[in-house]
Amino acid sequence: MVRLWAIGVILVAGWGCGTAPKLPAIAARTYVETRQCDTCHKEIAASYKQTGMARAFYKATPATMTVEHWERSPRFDHKPSNRSYQLLRRGDRYFLRRWQGTDSNMLELEIHYVMGSGNAARSYLHRTPQGRLAELPVAWYADAGGKLAMSPGYDRSDHQDHRRKISTDCFFCHNAYPAALDTKPASEPVFAESLPEGIDCQRCHGPGSVHVKSTKPADIVNPKRLSRERSLEVCMQCHLETTSFPLPNSLVKVGRGAFSYQPGQPLSDFMTHFDHAKGSGREGKFEIVSSVYRLRQSKCFTASDKLQCTTCHDPHKVQRGPAARPGFLKTCQGCHQGQGHFTKGDCVQCHMPKRRTEDVVHGVMTDHLIQRRPPPGNLTAPIAERHETPGKSYVGEVAPYYPANPDELYVALAQVVQRSNLAAGIPRLAAAIQKHRPQEPQFAFGLAQAHAAAGKPNEAIAAYRELLQAHPSYVPALRNLGELLHAAGQTNDAVLHLEKARGLEPNNAGVLHALGRAWRDQGKLADAQTALEEAINQDPDFADAHNSLGLVLLERKDLARAQASLQEAIRQQPDLAEAHLNLAQAMLMAEAPPQQAQAELETAIRLNPRMAPAHELLGLIHSASGRWPLAAASYRKALEITPDAPRAQLGLGSALAATGDREAARRYLNLALRSPDPNIQAEARDVLSQLP
Ligand code: HEC
Ligand code: HEC
Ligand code: HEC
Ligand code: HEC
Ligand code: HEC
Ligand code: HEC
Ligand code: HEC
Repeated sequence: MVRLWAIGVILVAGWGCGTAPKLPAIAARTYVETRQCDTCHKEIAASYKQTGMARAFYKATPATMTVEHWERSPRFDHKPSNRSYQLLRRGDRYFLRRWQGTDSNMLELEIHYVMGSGNAARSYLHRTPQGRLAELPVAWYADAGGKLAMSPGYDRSDHQDHRRKISTDCFFCHNAYPAALDTKPASEPVFAESLPEGIDCQRCHGPGSVHVKSTKPADIVNPKRLSRERSLEVCMQCHLETTSFPLPNSLVKVGRGAFSYQPGQPLSDFMTHFDHAKGSGREGKFEIVSSVYRLRQSKCFTASDKLQCTTCHDPHKVQRGPAARPGFLKTCQGCHQGQGHFTKGDCVQCHMPKRRTEDVVHGVMTDHLIQRRPPPGNLTAPIAERHETPGKSYVGEVAPYYPANPDELYVALAQVVQRSNLAAGIPRLAAAIQKHRPQEPQFAFGLAQAHAAAGKPNEAIAAYRELLQAHPSYVPALRNLGELLHAAGQTNDAVLHLEKARGLEPNNAGVLHALGRAWRDQGKLADAQTALEEAINQDPDFADAHNSLGLVLLERKDLARAQASLQEAIRQQPDLAEAHLNLAQAMLMAEAPPQQAQAELETAIRLNPRMAPAHELLGLIHSASGRWPLAAASYRKALEITPDAPRAQLGLGSALAATGDREAARRYLNLALRSPDPNIQAEARDVLSQLP
């Protein structure tokens, strides 16, 4: 999983609304419209509205889309992905346009929502007709006076563009809890049309249904009356992130709904946080969501038993910039009275400087690690984005962070979910499952996924089968098992599992896609087409599904629609190499001018130089127009990648024969003779017989 704004909360597939967990008594309270609080607490409400937290999520309207400099028609070109972007305003609606070159692969997506107050940044969200939310690839940053740039994690050639759906995690940290949410396993949540806008009182004070009637203080959570630990946890639910790079930073407990944490309850009943191991060189990291993580390392925190967020912050008030400094100075002095420089000066400037963050490179934040001296160097100098993929950049122990001694099962699972510690983690997770025999399927699921990630499909298949014996209706396992069996050539068995998954979750685009592909391999082309069309219905920007549908239509000789489908795959995802190859094939079959197919093949090869069939097909096009040396070169490339490809051997042999290199031609034609395909054998024999 590539982490973009924040990997943040990872739900351990308990996913959303499922079974209601047992909570302490306050669970009897429910959430109310936040306007109700405002009527009695007018002053606090008015002041709180100005804060970044109250403005952390909102609709895109003329009243909110005010920083983008519309008069300059904001646009920019992103070289690594060869794409251009422009923000457009049409009346009261806003759009992001994306295209390549002058106007190819153009699409426009409406910006429906904005996440982030803009104190540091604003991220644009699009709501699909199916109610899923996609993060757009371009964001606005306050840095350098305000600018557009790629969203965090997107400054690379193969970014996800507009196709990255957001799950519940951004919402958990950036908003009031939405009322109803359809979160099915393995599919992205469907958000209601009407969503709350901004973090509301009840995210810190808990559900208010009883208090709004009784107005009794005892009927509402006041963090001030909680222990230091519980009170800090109210802020930690959103402000604790050890890292946003793949690790994982946290796991939500199995069975806990995504929005089931309530202030006043132990945070560790809801989620477990992890960190890089000590001594891994990551101790000094500074990321965007780091106030808790850094503060907890400060002497002020460890050596005092009362310091917490609210010692310095009134969460109902804006406290930013020079105007807020005297207030902070007073707070420092509250503990550091006495002599010397403790009585004057801007304590914050020297002891809590602003720094550029490692994960959001266009963002600058306050370092909450209170140090004697700031780290050396220019702390806000520009830096380049760093890309880490699961199990590549950090490989090592995933250490418990909060609580200090979490359940063994979660610690073991954390080792493998993002591949940070696969080799040691697999036996550890297997042993923990043996020992604790958890009722829920999520741990066994993690183990099966880990086997697959470690390149052991047979172990993974066995693990999924075992899991399904106990939990026959667990769709994520049915789907993954189906895909693994399909890849292993056991297509009939694959179809059985995928059909069952579809029966349980008819709208799951991933399941429909996997089933469509498997049916295609069984020759059930009509069924395959229906399943893939249904997958696209569910998720119109699902580029792989458009590509798979194109292939099926190609096989059904519906060439015009095949081309349209493949072109749509490319419009959705211009860097999908396979779609360019398939489109070239469709064009050749439709007898389009060969230059068009050649251009698609060259694109496919630029995107993926190791795509042997593209080299082979290019060889064929060159041969057809008698460009024998070029043809030979293409076939050679194909054979460098797959040395035993009979078609490429035949092609190269034929091209060499045409250029007069008889000896080499014979060698390749003789290899082609060994092909199991009688047609290839016959052709090779034919060319050989014509060689003088
Ligand atoms: C009908 C009026 C009313 C409404 C509506 C109302 N409150 Fe109150 N609230 C009060 C009163 C009265 C007090 C007690 C004030 C006091 O004792 O100083 C209070 C106290 C509080 C306290 C302090 C509790 C303590 O321990 O001292 C909090 C926190 C609070 N309200 C939050 C909320 C939230 C959140 C909402 C919306 C869910 C809300 N209130 C809605 C009237 C209301
Ligand atoms: C773990 C909780 C968490 C998750 C998950 C999370 N964020 Fe944030 N985000 C925060 C916090 C806290 C801040 C403020 C950071 C600070 O100032 O220390 C923030 C800051 C931001 C900002 C900058 C706001 C400003 O200050 O102007 C944007 C934009 C943003 N997040 C977008 C997102 C998006 C989009 C997602 C989902 C892909 C996401 N965040 C997921 C907690 C989270
Ligand atoms: C980000 C968390 C957060 C949000 C959001 C929040 N509060 Fe509070 N609130 C607190 C904390 C923390 C305290 C205790 C402050 C302290 O320690 O003095 C508090 C205290 C209070 C009190 C007690 C009186 C006081 O001033 O100390 C009231 C009343 C209150 N909040 C109402 C509200 C209302 C109404 C809203 C929404 C408009 C709201 N709060 C939003 C965190 C929050
Ligand atoms: C529901 C998640 C959530 C909770 C709970 C929460 N925060 Fe935040 N907080 C955020 C996010 C997200 C931002 C960034 C908002 C933005 O600017 O877009 C933020 C921003 C802030 C800011 C920056 C200033 C501002 O105007 O918003 C401060 C200070 C802050 N939080 C303190 C606290 C404290 C103290 C607590 C605990 C009492 C707390 N927060 C609880 C999510 C949360
Ligand atoms: C709740 C009390 C408290 C508050 C508030 C507080 N500190 Fe501290 N601070 C401490 C304690 C306790 C120590 C450790 C003193 C010792 O080890 O002798 C400390 C240590 C420090 C140190 C030395 C750090 C080191 O690593 O040696 C610095 C610098 C510092 N504080 C600055 C600040 C500044 C600046 C503020 C305000 C932004 C502040 N403190 C607010 C309690 C506090
Ligand atoms: C010792 C004082 C102190 C404590 C304790 C403290 N903060 Fe801060 N915080 C600051 C200062 C100073 C700023 C910078 C304000 C400004 O922009 O001028 C700040 C800024 C922030 C911001 C705004 C974004 C940024 O990074 O500039 C957030 C969010 C925040 N604090 C969250 C928290 C949370 C959550 C806690 C509890 C873990 C916390 N703070 C504890 C002093 C403190
Ligand atoms: C111009 C920069 C600067 C400002 C402003 C400043 N400090 Fe410091 N402070 C330092 C430096 C440098 C040290 C480390 C001295 C050393 O290590 O010998 C220090 C050390 C400290 C220490 C640790 C002292 C000890 O002997 O353990 C504390 C506590 C502290 N400062 C608090 C504050 C407070 C509170 C303020 C605001 C009233 C403040 N500082 C303002 C630069 C500053």
